[in-house]
Amino acid sequence: MSLFIIEGIDGSGKSTQIALLSERLQSEGFDVKTVKFPNYSDRSSEPVKMYLEGELGADPSAVNAYAVSAFYAVDRFISYKKLWEKEYASGKIILSDRYTMSNYVYQGSKLKPEDRKAYIEWLYDFEFGKMGIPQPDRTFYLDVPPDYSIRQVEKRYQGDESKKDIHEQNLDYLHRCYQAGQEVFSATGAVMIECVRNGKMLPPEAIHEMIYNHIKQVIDG
Ligand SMILES: Nc1ncnc2c1ncn2[C@@H]1O[C@H](COP(=O)(O)OP(=O)(O)OP(=O)(O)O)[C@@H](O)[C@H]1O
Ligand SMILES: [Mg+2]
Repeated sequence: MSLFIIEGIDGSGKSTQIALLSERLQSEGFDVKTVKFPNYSDRSSEPVKMYLEGELGADPSAVNAYAVSAFYAVDRFISYKKLWEKEYASGKIILSDRYTMSNYVYQGSKLKPEDRKAYIEWLYDFEFGKMGIPQPDRTFYLDVPPDYSIRQVEKRYQGDESKKDIHEQNLDYLHRCYQAGQEVFSATGAVMIECVRNGKMLPPEAIHEMIYNHIKQVIDG
């Protein structure tokens, strides 16, 4: 049973790394299942979509962090029950594009710094304790400062602002999320993957090597 998570802000390269890892591990004969959050392909993500499309307000900071965290947690629980509980139990390697800590990055960042400790205790207890979804074996945090990740997001939308969700439209908020990510991942033992060196984004393959080597060590015990 193993569960590996790739975290990082929008456009940091999570999906790219999940694809590279999945291909590499499968080519070595491992049984791999990839999952992604939010799980837009299921109705379980409906409340998350309502939030991201601005139905609860256009400013993410004004929408209750605990309520929104519950939306994302429910989506994860349903995905677990429907898509990967059996695979996880049978020993497959589960690779997840975002997980519980994305709640901290995007929702915890809305809270005052002094309220964040209580929030994270609540979050861990809610998702891992009460709901009982599995705890990750390792979390990899793609450290890509917003000035770089924004360019990657722009590539996707090609100037069409209307397609962006309420997080992607808000640069101040993105910067606060990045800060929250830096703080929490280094404090919780995530593996920090430095993706920008000498002012340049490393190529996907170089980032992949760092993550892959670490995962191999965990798998080989
Ligand atoms: N290391 C890299 N160097 C240059 N471009 C990259 C790198 N990694 C990913 N990209 C490109 O940047 C864009 C965003 O990458 P990707 O979709 O993997 O990010 P993401 O973290 O999954 O984003 P989102 O959170 O929005 O899903 C894609 O066009 C991808 O090809
Ligand atoms: Mg992605």
